[in-house]
Amino acid sequence: MANSNIAFSLFFAFFVGHGIVELQASHHVYSHLQTVKSSVSAKQPYRTGYHFQPPKNWINDPNGIMVYKGVYHLFYQYNPKGAVWGNIVWAHSTSKDLVNWTPHEAAIYPSQPSDINGCWSGSATILPGGKPAILYTGIDPLNRQVQNLAIPKNLSDPYLREWIKSAKNPLMQPTAQNHINASSFRDPTTAWLGPDKQWRVIVGSKVNRQGLAILFKSKDFVNWVQSKTPLDSAKNIGMWECPDFFPVLVKGRNGVDTSINGPYVKHVLKVSLDDTRHDIYTIGSYDNVKDVYTPDKGSIESYSSVRYDYGKYYASKTFFDNVKNRRILMGWINESSSVADDIKKGWSGVHAIPRKIWLDGSGKQLVQWPVPEIQKLRANHVSFANKTLRGGSVIEISNVNAAQADVDVSFEIADLEKAEVLKPSWTNAQLLCSRKGALVKGRLGPFGLLVLASDDLKENTAVFFRIFKRQNKHVVLICSDQSRSSLNQDNDKTPYGAFLDVDIQHQKLSLRSLIDHSIVESFCGGGKVCITSRVYPTLAINKAAHLYAFNNGTQAIKISKLNAWSMKTAKIN
Ligand SMILES: *[C@@H]1O[C@H](CO)[C@@H](O)[C@H](O)[C@H]1NC(C)=O
Ligand SMILES: *[C@@H]1O[C@H](CO)[C@@H](O)[C@H](O)[C@H]1NC(C)=O
Ligand SMILES: *[C@@H]1O[C@H](CO)[C@@H](O)[C@H](O)[C@H]1NC(C)=O
Ligand SMILES: *[C@@H]1O[C@H](CO)[C@@H](O)[C@H](O)[C@H]1NC(C)=O
Ligand SMILES: *[C@@H]1O[C@H](CO)[C@@H](O)[C@H](O)[C@H]1NC(C)=O
Repeated sequence: MANSNIAFSLFFAFFVGHGIVELQASHHVYSHLQTVKSSVSAKQPYRTGYHFQPPKNWINDPNGIMVYKGVYHLFYQYNPKGAVWGNIVWAHSTSKDLVNWTPHEAAIYPSQPSDINGCWSGSATILPGGKPAILYTGIDPLNRQVQNLAIPKNLSDPYLREWIKSAKNPLMQPTAQNHINASSFRDPTTAWLGPDKQWRVIVGSKVNRQGLAILFKSKDFVNWVQSKTPLDSAKNIGMWECPDFFPVLVKGRNGVDTSINGPYVKHVLKVSLDDTRHDIYTIGSYDNVKDVYTPDKGSIESYSSVRYDYGKYYASKTFFDNVKNRRILMGWINESSSVADDIKKGWSGVHAIPRKIWLDGSGKQLVQWPVPEIQKLRANHVSFANKTLRGGSVIEISNVNAAQADVDVSFEIADLEKAEVLKPSWTNAQLLCSRKGALVKGRLGPFGLLVLASDDLKENTAVFFRIFKRQNKHVVLICSDQSRSSLNQDNDKTPYGAFLDVDIQHQKLSLRSLIDHSIVESFCGGGKVCITSRVYPTLAINKAAHLYAFNNGTQAIKISKLNAWSMKTAKIN
């Protein structure tokens, strides 16, 4: 095996005739720390109760997610040797309910020249006859990024524990002719079938500062031909990582298979911007004869495009769940702690709760909501309604485990006329949230939740609304303010924020937060804006954590309804 590897790589180097290319990880590379062993104590306060994570070490992107014979498969980027990025393999877990997960041996790991320096992100496609196939990025002996194929060894095994790599790998690679940048060519999508019976797949790339979704076509899933033009591109935006391209129904919340097209669907192109570390998307139309994707008017790729999540959420990927006819989104949430703290705790990275995703009635954005399966973890229901919160008040929501909870609240505002005027220069929501944190009194707001709070409120993460008016319209700002989330000063506590497009004249303002020790995953306006935060309280841990509703505006507001639950611990790996 070793001999043939050497022979292969010599042949390879000759064939390609390229110089050695720098390995571009797009992660901070701490070479000396990549294999530092650490012991993980189960009593750590920041480990999650129901968000996906392995027992230890570094994780990043979800990969190849799919449902096969009724079993959900999650593969993910994993360093088996340490708590920082490096030594990347595809770790593998399966689940029957997207809540409890069983670990398996790593599914894809360096074993052939085309992936000997790493098995990076990729996607699963279900081929005719229900046969899964995985396309993933391999790092070859020249540290070039190339695309490879793997298929299950035993289709009768619902856990798909073993994978065989194609002898023809790599199937897509940079050459002297195609001018693809060998350090910027990665993360193949789930493939889709066109009317000409050919498969299509896109791979993220860039040329100088131009982000690219390079399109390849194939009749047999093995021989891939690059199309003359990319499916999409945008100037001055940098590398497009982890593209995802899929149809959504114009009406309704069901999902459809990735190959579906017609007047009843719109298409979504999501890219993960390496520059900003944000997952942005456009909505548009896809002509699958000409292979042209045209974003709708006003839907453009830029640093300020619509995002899946306005906090921490990256390298996400969707899949079509044909068992429940829905499209599910999964994403990686990285740490906000220092590398030294990550090594001390022995792990880094978690995954967000799987979200069902569909097109909003406006056609201008997507809506996301935690999969309903997660509700089976709910216990100790606490509920109240019609409670007025005067300006300056804080009320505790007791009898729930505030370190591991699901809380869903809706607010009603009696006198919208009292809203402050939004200055024309206040166009950046995140900046506005930093300027007007939870301690800055307003008129309509700040009001919302104080989560993972100590009893003296020295530590708390404030997730809150402010309502402004601009001409005759109201503008709703939602913030997640981490600035007082921990007495530890080594964490990134940048506040997050977004504007929420809701008609508050006629609709209540809703906020649901999934709280899980060091994660606050918030869904606002029924899932129109999501904000995920990582926080590391030193006082508000486990039983010492509290949950409050607050209003620090001058005007009273009403909690029309509040439901809160303790969340049971899921069986994760
Ligand atoms: C394939 O998987 C099935 C189900 O797990 C198992 O019964 C069978 O022995 C496997 N076949 C081989 C060749 O490993
Ligand atoms: C190729 O990608 C690498 C890594 O991001 C970058 O440093 C280099 O400038 C890129 N070259 C071109 C021509 O875009
Ligand atoms: C991870 O978190 C750090 C600090 O909070 C941030 O600067 C960085 O961009 C994040 N990386 C990704 C890929 O999200
Ligand atoms: C809340 O108030 C509304 C209107 O005043 C009323 O219709 C509703 O029954 C009340 N709900 C509860 C649970 O008290
Ligand atoms: C409300 O604002 C005041 C004044 O800035 C501040 O002292 C107080 O801590 C705030 N209350 C909450 C619950 O944030």
